[in-house]
Amino acid sequence: ANGAAKGDKSRNIIEKLDESDKNCVVFYGSQTGTAEDYASRLAKEGHSRFGLQTMVADLEEYDFDNLDTFPDDKLAVFVLATYGEGEPTDNAVEFYEFIGSEDISFSEGGGADDKPLAKLKYVAFGLGNNTYEHYNSMVRNVDKYLTKLGATRFGAAGEGDDGAGTMEEDFLAWKEPMWAAVAEKMGLEEREAAYHPVFEVIERDDLSPEDDTVYLGEPNKNHLEGKQTGPFNANNPFIAPIVESSEIFTAKDRNCLHMEISIAGSNLSYTTGDHIAVWPNNSGKEVDRIFKVLGKEHKRHTVIAVKGLDSTAKVPFPSPTTYDAVARFHIEIGAAVSRQLVSGLAQFAPNDDIKAEMTKLGSDKDYFKQKVTNRHLNLAQLLEIEGKGQVWTKIPFSFLIEGLVKLQPRYYSISSSSLVQKDKISITAVVESVQKADSPHVLKGVTTNYLLALKQKQHGDPSPDPHGLNYAITGPRNKYDGIHVPVHVRHSNFKLPSDPSKPIIMVGPGTGVAPFRGFVQERAAQAKAGQKVGKTVLFFGCRKRSEDFLYEKEWEQYKEALGDNFDLHTAFSRDGPKKVYVQHHIEEHGEEINKLLEQKAYFYVCGDAAYMAREVNQLLGKIIAKYRNVSEKKGEEIVKAMRASNQYQEDVWS
Ligand code: 2AM
Repeated sequence: ANGAAKGDKSRNIIEKLDESDKNCVVFYGSQTGTAEDYASRLAKEGHSRFGLQTMVADLEEYDFDNLDTFPDDKLAVFVLATYGEGEPTDNAVEFYEFIGSEDISFSEGGGADDKPLAKLKYVAFGLGNNTYEHYNSMVRNVDKYLTKLGATRFGAAGEGDDGAGTMEEDFLAWKEPMWAAVAEKMGLEEREAAYHPVFEVIERDDLSPEDDTVYLGEPNKNHLEGKQTGPFNANNPFIAPIVESSEIFTAKDRNCLHMEISIAGSNLSYTTGDHIAVWPNNSGKEVDRIFKVLGKEHKRHTVIAVKGLDSTAKVPFPSPTTYDAVARFHIEIGAAVSRQLVSGLAQFAPNDDIKAEMTKLGSDKDYFKQKVTNRHLNLAQLLEIEGKGQVWTKIPFSFLIEGLVKLQPRYYSISSSSLVQKDKISITAVVESVQKADSPHVLKGVTTNYLLALKQKQHGDPSPDPHGLNYAITGPRNKYDGIHVPVHVRHSNFKLPSDPSKPIIMVGPGTGVAPFRGFVQERAAQAKAGQKVGKTVLFFGCRKRSEDFLYEKEWEQYKEALGDNFDLHTAFSRDGPKKVYVQHHIEEHGEEINKLLEQKAYFYVCGDAAYMAREVNQLLGKIIAKYRNVSEKKGEEIVKAMRASNQYQEDVWS
């Protein structure tokens, strides 16, 4: 965040509520923006349905030792994501340490043994992933601490599960009884949920999109002025040159990109195993679609100023800007549309029949699943279908800014070694374009198709631009020469042992092999430099040897450098009559794996969280049980202990 701004602002939430006439604060602990989005949805709903005067607050921006003076006619809402292996999100670390501290003390002197928070009323929702061991530990622990300190919770503490893919429905199912409890306890009347805007959109006919004060996708003022200044981070991307790009394989409906991105001169640095964040923009085709369906094509390039209607409402992008730039760079128009959004849109339907249908979709979970979720529709695609040729001119643009998620950077495991190329980051990504059975559209990954378009542009490829990069008025990308992509680096704990002579075992099917290319590249370089490098075992899996075997030739070079110390075991799932997965080879080499683990080998898994990583985890417990002659339960415990000591590391996604 911005240090100067932080210093000026009060960190006293009670004062802040008082000054801004609010009686409900929704705190969020968010890493990738989902919890933040849920927080703002709750704030909006509390206001529009129950007349609560709500504000949203980043946990990082406030102090908590005065929570004991939190007025008892006000409400605190906590929306807390659990990150990685049960950790708080970066912005919640301080709060979490404070509230869980054994020798906690509050402004009026109360400590853990009294009930210092007896006046505090709160509700809580957690975002977690059941494929991780410490499922939703943030909300569970915070709830426990608050209760212990004497605070009163309204309704149940909710838990959303990203692992099962039910986050949205878990959230919807939790919030109804929660609101009922809040309304009852606080004596609130539910009112007709009319739309109460949080932002105001003012058309600025005095400005033209060509004016150099108008933001066309630039994330901040420095970028607008064409000079980028570090530090580069999650609030300020580095517009990095792409120095090399190629397709490692090209199959019928899938291809895999390899890109080399230069961070030279940026002061950004990475170490092998870190993540690179890519700041995407939406597909030109989808941007066209949304303006068409809103009946707003003629206004696309009108300059607008977007302002919060009160001091607590933060606009998530800089202005003045244009409608087009907002839809293209700042809001997630390509994502699956949520049931809550559909229900809120009913009031803006072009006619009563459409309104009735939208209301039904919004309130009937199964119907929504069948008509929307299963067909993978984004907002504009749904409006197109439901509008039956009519345009939706009544939808206020502010409603879309408030109701759609902010377009977030996407993270990729870096596939190069920082030892080998400290100023150049490799990305390995499969471009997703999937035709699902029930969907009327080809489902396209926003960021991977954006990268593919950049690759084609770099190569002067005459094929039609797949992402619509070549729009009439462009944002930051054409303010720089050559082909660029906005990025920053996120440091991870997924790390090689500092001593290269230690053995390592890596499991990475598909693009899960990305960080391991970096690992092996690094160890090969160390071996070449005469260092002693330990056993290096990689389990890789893909569909067919001849189709999607990533870095096939490179592994041979690494083998030359590492000799017998490098073993690559490949599982081709669709080459033979029966599926072969990495697990089959892991099982076959169980004895060796166990032996290496006893020599303190590090064990790494990267790729799919929901099935592969979970199965490998279980299998390892069984292997340990078998070769150490202990019970399977004991084997499981040993794997758990390995995780706790970082001998077992995961970089997984769902
Ligand atoms: P499949 O698609 O043929 O089923 C990379 O995606 C490779 O991982 C593919 O060969 C894919 O096989 C395989 N894969 C799919 N599910 C898996 C699982 N549960 N465990 C391990 N590998 C899996």
